[in-house]
Amino acid sequence: MELNAKQILAKAKTGGYAVGAFNAANWETLKAIFNAAEKLHSPAIIETSPGETDYLGAENLVCLVDNFRARTGIPILINLDHALETAKVYHAAKAGYDLLHYDGSKLSFEVNLKHAKEVVSRLHRQNKLVEVEINHITGGSEAHRGSIKSMQNQADYTTPDQAKMFMAESGADILAVSIGNVHGIYRDTPKLDIKRLKQIAAGVSCFFSLHGGSGIPAGQVRAAIKHGVVKVNVNTELRLAFRDTLAKVIKTNKEAAVYKFMPDVISAVQKVVETKMKMCGSVNKK
Ligand code: G3H
Ligand code: ZN
Repeated sequence: MELNAKQILAKAKTGGYAVGAFNAANWETLKAIFNAAEKLHSPAIIETSPGETDYLGAENLVCLVDNFRARTGIPILINLDHALETAKVYHAAKAGYDLLHYDGSKLSFEVNLKHAKEVVSRLHRQNKLVEVEINHITGGSEAHRGSIKSMQNQADYTTPDQAKMFMAESGADILAVSIGNVHGIYRDTPKLDIKRLKQIAAGVSCFFSLHGGSGIPAGQVRAAIKHGVVKVNVNTELRLAFRDTLAKVIKTNKEAAVYKFMPDVISAVQKVVETKMKMCGSVNKK
């Protein structure tokens, strides 16, 4: 029997692994994720930001993923990533997304909580899972020139008390923790506050997601998985593999049929996805 989103994440939590959540904004990236999942017999989450969702079309993505699931039986979930507006959340849920990340982290704690409660009460009736973010995870999914230090303030990390109160009151399913993770790749290496994650996990029983999965050393990600992270979000490394390979191919390949030079791009992205699946421990967990 096919597992639902909650069961897929619960299985990961009990099994001590995480499911990689990969951003896709085009067919080639999607194909790379599908190929990796099929080759490694790994579950995966395809995610789109609101911009990526508008570009692809939520309904189109759902159809493509449904086709893949029906053909392979591999558990692939679809997640709306960092939706700042509740209207976007409801639209994606209606289109068939499984997970919805309502990101009110730029609002006050109280307003964020009020919105999160509304989203949870509406989406739980539709059997969807809701992810929330209390403390804003900084940066953007790109290669940054600066250092992480200049982006981050430890005072903005998630605290155990905030997490306990927010998750109890909102009833949300997944908490995107801010524990030293940032979006994008920087000159220096992130240092996750695993001790803090442990303290947060002691007070709540929800799932945790780790955003900013690009550039975090595998050992640190594995330590986070040990303490309840079941979803690891990765975007920048896929984007860079795509862009750098495409630039190379266009320079050397004078082929006019676009689909003929895309296999190299797909392989490069697939390689990154496979590495992340191995890091998450999700290989052969389909
Ligand atoms: O929500 C998306 C992820 O957090 C991506 O982060 O671009 O650093 O891999 P990343
Ligand atoms: Zn993120």
